[in-house]
Amino acid sequence: MMEDESSECRNHARLGIMELANMISVPMSLNAVVRLKVADAIWDGGSNTPLSASQILTRLLPSGGGDPENLQRILRMLSSYGVFTEHLNGSKRNYSLTDVGKTLVTDSEGLSYAPYVLQHHQDALMRAWPLVHDAVLDPSTEPFVKANGEPAYGYYGKKPEMNGLMQKAMSGVSVPFMKAILEGYNGFEGVERLVDVGGSGGDCLRMILLKHPNVRQGINFDLPEVVAKAPQIPGVTHVGGDMFKSIPRGDAIFMKWVLTTWTDDECKLIMQNCNKALPEGGKLIACEPVLPKETDDSHRTRALLEGDIFVMTVYRAKGKHRTEEEFRRLGLSSGFPNFRAVYIDYFYTVLEFQK
Ligand SMILES: C[S@@+](CC[C@H](N)C(=O)[O-])C[C@H]1O[C@@H](n2cnc3c(N)ncnc32)[C@H](O)[C@@H]1O
Repeated sequence: MMEDESSECRNHARLGIMELANMISVPMSLNAVVRLKVADAIWDGGSNTPLSASQILTRLLPSGGGDPENLQRILRMLSSYGVFTEHLNGSKRNYSLTDVGKTLVTDSEGLSYAPYVLQHHQDALMRAWPLVHDAVLDPSTEPFVKANGEPAYGYYGKKPEMNGLMQKAMSGVSVPFMKAILEGYNGFEGVERLVDVGGSGGDCLRMILLKHPNVRQGINFDLPEVVAKAPQIPGVTHVGGDMFKSIPRGDAIFMKWVLTTWTDDECKLIMQNCNKALPEGGKLIACEPVLPKETDDSHRTRALLEGDIFVMTVYRAKGKHRTEEEFRRLGLSSGFPNFRAVYIDYFYTVLEFQK
């Protein structure tokens, strides 16, 4: 028997399902503030002064126009999700950026998390989301393919604006992460030739080379259409190819955010190709999201599980976020008997696989 609808427990349940059912407002409003460039307007070179929606709108549209009330509705909702701080004075509402909101501000290198938000909400990706249930009914093809007729990387490759946005998104997320791990992780000592598999524009290598002068040669290995757009970086050679076929030789191999998007069999193939490219005792250093064994409602677990559904929907229906134990087993089955996980960043874990 269901409890009486007036009970506290049913009241919470009705509220809980309404929150979940309306949840789409959150990412779509986040996408809206990124498209409108609200974070840069509030930040204004570092002032972060609390502003009303009208004042923000004046900065966004100096020649006038726009609807301040609708902007305020969005800012208010996102304040509840920790993107903005609301300063309430009588009936007036002003908004500044929280630490989360500040990740959307363009930095001196032109980077932020804003392109990552935009990348996730492009039309081709959005078309895949109503088909998530299809990943359960038929996992042989991912929702992205069902919606767009071909896999995501092939699709991006044919559209220069999508390819460019993907690289900008990867830089915006990877540069702050690399700054954080290069402080606390010493696994690059003694390495002279380092290959970054799926290195996108080469940001990770650029930062590793700056911090570790012992790494004299960086090989940025990615799909031909991706390296064709990569900028020149001192000490880094861009090499186009397919990691499922072969990987350039190195003393060590770095790989960030690559294994996650592939099935177990595909990961095994990539890791076996890494193994072939390494000397005896050589290391594969992979940075990947690693799922906790237990499910809970922490921000970390949620961010990791949400990313897992993103992978299932966009990249590979059987590509996935894995636990530490699943990674250890993948390593064993591809010729890496030694394994260690280093937890520095809350989202990506550094995984060392040694021959
Ligand atoms: C999620 S991105 C990560 C980029 C970068 N490592 C980072 O973390 O910023 C995955 C990368 O794998 C690359 N990739 C996909 N298929 C590949 C293949 N068959 N061979 C080489 N690289 C590939 C993509 O082009 C993309 O740059």
